[in-house]
Amino acid sequence: MSGHGRAVACANIALAKYWGKCDEGLNLPAVPSVSVTLDALVTETTVTVEPALAADALVLNEVPQDEASARKVSELLDLLHRGGPRARARVRSVNRFPSSSGLASSASGFAALAAAAARAYGLPRTPAELSALARRGSASAARSIFGGFVELPAGTPGDGSLAAHPLHPADWWDVRVVIAMVTRAPKDIASRDGMRRTTRTSPYWDAWLACAPGYARAVREAVARRDLQAVGEAMEASTCAMHASAWAAVPALRYIRGVTLEVLDRVESLRRRGVGAWATMDAGPHVKVLCAAADAATVGEALREGGGVVDLRVAKPGPGIEVL
Ligand code: DP6
Repeated sequence: MSGHGRAVACANIALAKYWGKCDEGLNLPAVPSVSVTLDALVTETTVTVEPALAADALVLNEVPQDEASARKVSELLDLLHRGGPRARARVRSVNRFPSSSGLASSASGFAALAAAAARAYGLPRTPAELSALARRGSASAARSIFGGFVELPAGTPGDGSLAAHPLHPADWWDVRVVIAMVTRAPKDIASRDGMRRTTRTSPYWDAWLACAPGYARAVREAVARRDLQAVGEAMEASTCAMHASAWAAVPALRYIRGVTLEVLDRVESLRRRGVGAWATMDAGPHVKVLCAAADAATVGEALREGGGVVDLRVAKPGPGIEVL
């Protein structure tokens, strides 16, 4: 058979962080996470089934990738076929934002790949099945199948069906995430390796496991009441606990840089001026600031003041996967 599928997925930002796995083989998160899907960070992926190909071919942002880089794509296509035989495919993926820089390109990338591949191979899957499939590529990708506010529960070792589920649609709450990029350089340690090192060596791993579910619950409940301050405070606490557990790994995983701290100071001074703004960082140095829609321009200006921010984007809650 030969078919074609095209899908567009938005990245998402975790308001309560996923960090660490309870089952590496099935890529199951050790803690629950809650996210908001973001309209401004989009990946478009096309999958074309080509039986004549000897190996899957991956072109990422117009650059052909070697077989090693295409391996994670091939693995996902194998999983879609549940281990059965399949024809090879040509996969083209374009990120409309810098990839591999801590801006969640793997989340939108694997979500778009799962949906485009299911269409190309003529293997219809429910959103939950697509989410579980995308999760195998990157657990955060499980959340990008859905729009708006989304939860990915913690996994149970051995349970491969774990999927994210939507909590509220994108129009539930008109918040903004102001993304302050502080470098264009690629990040140095992939989240997967960082998580493994944290799990194996950090004395604070157990403390993270103990506190993360409480932050996820606090975020979920505060999103349900549209309580920005409560979401912001729980998000910052989740972020700091995640980064502290990683920082205490051996050798240390220090995703933040000096400029990250300067931007965090600017967020604090915004709050002192009465502007509701709260920050989060992922496996990279960029700062993402949650605020009300009406404050996004003020927040953006304040984050830029003093320099160090190389790019600024404002995102709002975005849609789930779109298959074209
Ligand atoms: C810090 O989903 O990229 O962004 O499952 O190993 O591919 P893998 O990890 P990934 O990790 C994201 C971690 C995070 C927090 C989050 O998005 O919840």
